[in-house]
Amino acid sequence: MYKNDFPFFKNSSVTYLDNAATTQKPQAVLNKILEYYTNYCSNTHRSNHGDANKATKEFEETRTILKEFINAKDESEIIFTKGVTESLNMVASIFAKEFKTIIISSIEHHSNITPWHMQNRTLHQGLEVVNIKENLEFDFEHFEELLKANPNSFVSITHVSNAFGVKHNIKKIAKLTHKYNSYLMVDGAQSLAHFEIDVQDLDVDFYAISSHKTYGPTGVGALYVKQELLEKLKTYQTGGATINDVNFQRSLMLSSPYKFEAGTQNIADVIAFKEALKYIKNIGYKTIHTIEEEIYSYLHNELKKIENIILYNNVENSIVSKSFNIKDINSEDIGILLDKMHIAVRAGHHCAQPIMKKLNIDGTIRVSIAFYNTKEDIDIFIKALKKAITMLKD
Ligand SMILES: Cc1ncc(COP(=O)(O)O)c(C=O)c1O
Repeated sequence: MYKNDFPFFKNSSVTYLDNAATTQKPQAVLNKILEYYTNYCSNTHRSNHGDANKATKEFEETRTILKEFINAKDESEIIFTKGVTESLNMVASIFAKEFKTIIISSIEHHSNITPWHMQNRTLHQGLEVVNIKENLEFDFEHFEELLKANPNSFVSITHVSNAFGVKHNIKKIAKLTHKYNSYLMVDGAQSLAHFEIDVQDLDVDFYAISSHKTYGPTGVGALYVKQELLEKLKTYQTGGATINDVNFQRSLMLSSPYKFEAGTQNIADVIAFKEALKYIKNIGYKTIHTIEEEIYSYLHNELKKIENIILYNNVENSIVSKSFNIKDINSEDIGILLDKMHIAVRAGHHCAQPIMKKLNIDGTIRVSIAFYNTKEDIDIFIKALKKAITMLKD
């Protein structure tokens, strides 16, 4: 019973099925945050006293653990950020800005759409969008057409769709991207909590990670940058801890990752993030996958039995998130009633309005599971859903 590791479940009577929004945090993560603030609260990479050295060591340990976790080559390839949103914005403004064409897909989160609009790019004016097929899978033929017409581009694609749970074949996307002399950034917000990431095997150039969706604290994320590209990356913000030497004529920057981490970092939460990674490692992705797959297909089968249900993604190409609508009922209305029955799901557009528009819908109800969920959670949810449908139909 993995819920016992998470204090939230001891204190809340909610059936939590909104894991794609954020995951709960295990006790070990909470302990670590408290440990930093109560035992050695000091700034990192500055002072040279005992507590400051301890804080720096703990902070850098997270970098090393994350490096090993995603099989990066070196710690310099791991840059701490506030989360996936900041990682994507950072690459957009310090590297991708120079490219004539950016290629995304039509199933992206707003975080991978709006940074490109901020550069005054619009569809076919510096921004190209890969079609998503009827079953919500990535259209590789269209992708290759776009790359052929626009070699030397910058490609930015999500690994797993937050709105529908569809998982893209990133290895294949990377191969095609590089064939056309382009670069690939991956939005990994919905990945690391559920399956192993090997950045070398995937051969991605940039990979964005979110701690809070991976059982870690909010306000922390990381950006993986392939070593060969580090020198090409300009600094994004500068200030304390990024500098090697300054006079009034010029500033000489440190090397990566420090030149990208300006100002005091979110020290406690970075330190605590490693506890989330250790927790996942202890359980093992194999176990996580087995549990999640079983609950996911149980959820799918139970939903299929509901009258007038419209399901968008199938279990074969998707993981953990299930999006649906009930004919003639507004998804937000169902969300409100489920909330009243203490069920936490998300209803609406899930920060992915363009794909909703493409499907001609305002939104969906999204149920997103994690390995601590049980079939009993699904039963409670299905019972409440049926009740909500009956109430809204009458
Ligand atoms: C696919 C996807 N990309 C990006 C984000 C933004 O991530 P973060 O909250 O770490 O900034 C999310 C969060 O909902 C997401 O699901």
